[in-house]
This record gives sequence, structure tokens and C-alpha cells, in this order.
Amino acid sequence: MQGLDQPYRDLSCPIFPATARYLERLVSPQADSIHEQKQARLDELLRRAEAGGGAARIERQHAAGKLCARERIDLLLDPSSFVELDALAMHQCRDFGMEEQRIPGDGVVTGYGLIDGRTVFIYAQDFTVFGGSLSGAYARKICKVMDLAMENGAPIIGLNDSGGARIQEGVVSLGGYADIFLRNTLASGVVPQISAIMGPCAGGAVYSPAITDFIAMVEDSSYMFVTGPDVIKTVTHEEVDKESLGGASAHSRKSGVCHFATPDEPTCIALIRELLSFIPSNNVENAPERPTNDPWNRKNPELTAKVPSNPNKPYDIREVIEGVVDDNYFFEVHENYAQNIVVGFSRMDGQSVGIIANQPGHLAGCLDIEASIKGARFVRFCDAFNIPLLTLVDVPGFLPGTQQEWGGIIKHGAKLLYAFAEATVPKVTLITRKAYGGAYDVMNSKHIRADVNLAWPTAEIAVMGAEGAVNIIFRQQLKEAADPAQRRAELVAEYEETFNNPYKAAELGFIDRVIKPEDTRRELISSFRMLRNKRATNPPRKHGNIPL
Ligand code: HXC
Repeated sequence: MQGLDQPYRDLSCPIFPATARYLERLVSPQADSIHEQKQARLDELLRRAEAGGGAARIERQHAAGKLCARERIDLLLDPSSFVELDALAMHQCRDFGMEEQRIPGDGVVTGYGLIDGRTVFIYAQDFTVFGGSLSGAYARKICKVMDLAMENGAPIIGLNDSGGARIQEGVVSLGGYADIFLRNTLASGVVPQISAIMGPCAGGAVYSPAITDFIAMVEDSSYMFVTGPDVIKTVTHEEVDKESLGGASAHSRKSGVCHFATPDEPTCIALIRELLSFIPSNNVENAPERPTNDPWNRKNPELTAKVPSNPNKPYDIREVIEGVVDDNYFFEVHENYAQNIVVGFSRMDGQSVGIIANQPGHLAGCLDIEASIKGARFVRFCDAFNIPLLTLVDVPGFLPGTQQEWGGIIKHGAKLLYAFAEATVPKVTLITRKAYGGAYDVMNSKHIRADVNLAWPTAEIAVMGAEGAVNIIFRQQLKEAADPAQRRAELVAEYEETFNNPYKAAELGFIDRVIKPEDTRRELISSFRMLRNKRATNPPRKHGNIPL
């Protein structure tokens, strides 16, 4: 054995050059400066990563009214909580001169941090680097944080701003997208997935956000489409600009692809923080509680007159929601789409609840294709993430018409039915007025496993409205009557007395309690308290086959 000092002085050792270099630092009088050089190299790499595509491109981004990836992350996460991963990852492309253009981080900033003290995983596409386009290395970065989110039961948030597939990388990029789509699918129902669209999102790239639970867009600076205006013009000769085609307004009002349209990026980011406050970090946790000073048994006499005495007059169901939930606060989802059904989150007794309500103020609250799809997706989200459901019913039935029938109202309406029926979270239903026909069954009735079914005295539970029913079942009598108008009025009154109230259903146990409107908050909260430890499961199976 040689002495301790001696062999390490042999710095030309060919077998362990790295060890030799390390030891050289230990014994060399220049050790400090070598440390500094190594540190400086790291600093330089990190500086280059932070600089993204450089000052000019950052300026262009700002001039377009957009923030850069790191600025967005700073706004989204609790201060100083962001831990970046793979800041030094670089693409491996050697084609089209790409080997000369390698930027540490490669166009996407990934990592983890805290929102209201809870861990989230995040990726933010950096448009200043190759237009935020997706390379193989970039996709691997995203997959890494998605895998970590799954392993650690935390939400994944994607801030999208990208020109799509990195054209220079070809199929490597397409494969990278598919790797992400697979993870989106496997994470669905396990951890919440939220997408913000803050710039372009086109081609197949739209399918990652589409699989996530919620999409928020920024008005005037973001768009999503499978094929852009140029392709559309070539193929169909239709002329449309990209904002009308796939902007926040189009997707929040017409297609329903996006759940929230926000006026600017800070609002979009604040909205995501708030959305997360209503939902748990994963499918085995409950949503965080937020204690309130709003008394659990607060009476609200204003609710008594909320349903108009004329059964054909509309009212705004949001006023009923706000009248009963904690601090009158309702966080609406999909506000501008399918307005005949209202969905969103509130808290009752500090606990998060998902609310689904027919809106008599729009299309008389009828269920149609869009409302059924909107409602079904929301119900399934809440059920997947242990959020109790409150259903408010005032529905005259399904919207009639060839457009609806040929558009597939049968299969789409069945989605809502299926979603309510399969849900095992605590389910409470309140009928405020109409619950007619098939829509009575669909809207979380006792028969499809609602736990508590309540009704106001104004509830009308029947196969159809009195006028329609009398026309059908008393057609002959009306023909033969001496005074048909008089006879019709009598028969309508008789039908209303028999069916247009909650008492027949209460007799049969389909309604558990007929309650006074002013007591609604107390009644709902006591129901949810009773259901706190509810355990219910569905039969074992690979998965159901919801009518898609
Ligand atoms: C590589 C790209 C890029 C891309 C943009 N850039 N898109 N680099 N691959 N896909 C680069 C540009 O060369 C430019 O680099 C910088 O990003 C900014 O682009 P600009 O065109 O100057 O910006 P702007 O005018 O704002 O237009 C943005 C844009 C446009 C609308 C996104 O760049 C564009 O149309 N890009 C191509 C989009 C596209 O066809 N992508 C493929 C779609 S197919 P410099 O160096 O000048 O800053 C797809 C399939 C996915 O994505 C399939 C998944 C299954």
C-alpha cells in the first residue's frame, strides 16, 4: 500500500481520470478558483436556461400581452415555492442545424411547488424557445412531472403556449405527444389535471388539454383548434379568423371545450388557484375544508317567494344556490355554455360540494344535448374526486325537436343519467318546482341512488304538465263535453291536485322530506353531515361503457 499522499499526487492516472481531477482539487493550491469555475459554469447554464429564447423574443412575448413561462409560474405558485427540474435538459436533434441551437430547458419549464401550501406539479411552455414547440426532450420533461404527480398524489397543471410539434424533430415529437396523452389518460380520475391555454394550441396538441379536467383560456391571446383557418379555407372554402374559430369566446360559448374564459393571464392564474381550493389533491383524499362564520342553520325567508306562483315564469336558480351555500358564494364552471344547466362548486358547512342545477331562466331549464354533456362531465369529476353532489331540480323535460333527436339526445341524455347513477359520493337532491317525465329520473332521483331527496311545497312531480296530460288522457271526454273549456279547466285542476305536488312522491318514499324553502340551508347541511361517512361501491368490472 502506498502512503496516503503519494498516489493522489499521480494525477495522470489514466484509469480514474474523474477521481484524479477531484483529488487534484483537494490538493491543488488553485482549488478555490476551480470550485469557482465549476460554480460559474453552473450559473452560466442556469442563466441561459432562464434567458429562454433571449431578450428580443421575451420582449415580443410581452408586447403581445403575454407573460413568459417563469413569470406565469411565479404568479401561480406560493412565493418562493417553485423547485425546477430538468432546467439543463436539451434536445438531441442533429437535423436542420439544430445542433447549433441548444437552449438549456428546451422550451418548457417544469417542476413542483405549492398552492395554498399544497403540492402541485407544473409545466409551463416557453414560447420564446422555438415557439414553445415540443421536442423529444421537452416531452420527457413533461412526462417526468406527470409521473411524479401520479406517484405523489398531487394535481398537475399545464400552462400551454406552443407552436405544436417541433417541426425539426418529426416523429420524435409526435411520439412525445402520445407519451403525454397516455399519461393524461392514466391520470384521469386519479389526480386533478388543469390546463391553461395562454397562446397557440393547435393540431393534435389540443388533445392533451382536452383529456384534462378543466381548461381555462385567456381572451384575445389564446386559441385552440385541430385545423387552422388556412387549412379550413383550402378544404371547405370557409373563411374564419383564428379568434372566431378557436378563441376563448368560441370555446367557452359554442363548443364547450373550455370551462373558463378569462380576460387576462393574471385572472386566469388566480382562477386556477381558486379552483384548486375546492378540489382534493387526489382521488383518495377529501377536498380541503374552509371553516365559515355563516351559521349552518341560517334561515333564508327570501327563498319562499323565489319560485313564481305562475309555473311558466322563469327565475334564476343561481339565486337559490347563493341563498343556501356558505357565505352565498358560488364558483361557477362552464358559465357561458349550455346555460340551461348550471354547474359549479360551493361550500356547505365548510365542505366542498359540486352543484348541478336546472336553470329555469334559460330554455325553461329543459335538458338538451349540450346541457346533458356538461352536467355529466361535471358529475363524473365530482364523483372521481370525492366531492359530494347537490342537485337542484326544476326541469320541464327534454327539449323536443328533430335537431335534438337527430343530434343524439338519446345517447347524450343517457350520459347524464349514467353519471348520476354510477356516482357513489353523497348525493342530495332538492326539487324546487318541476320534475317531469324522464328528466325526473335523470336528475339524481331516489331511484338512481340519491341519498336524500328533498322537495319544496312548490314541487310538481309528474309525467308531464297538467295541460298536456289532460289533452292526451281525456281527449274523448273533452270532445264529448258540453262545455269543453270548462271541462278542461276542471280536469287540469284535478290533475294538478293529484300529481303537481310533492305529496304523491312523498307517500311513496321517493321524496324523504318536504321542506320549507327558508330552512333549505339547514336541511341540506344536516343531510351532508349525516352522509359524511358514506361508503358505497359499484360492482367490480374493468370499466363501464358510458354512452359516448
Ligand atoms: C419549430 C417553431 C414551431 C414549430 C414556431 N416555431 N412553431 N419551431 N417547430 N412547430 C418557431 C418559429 O420558427 C420562430 O422561431 C418562433 O417559433 C416563433 O414563431 P413565429 O412564427 O415567429 O411566431 P408567431 O408569428 O407568433 O406565430 C406563431 C405560430 C406559428 C402561429 C405558432 O409559428 C406557426 O404557425 N407555427 C407552426 C405551427 C404548426 O404548424 N405546428 C405543427 C402543427 S402539427 P424564431 O427563431 O424566428 O424565433 C402538430 C401536430 C401535433 O403540432 C400532433 C400531436 C399528436
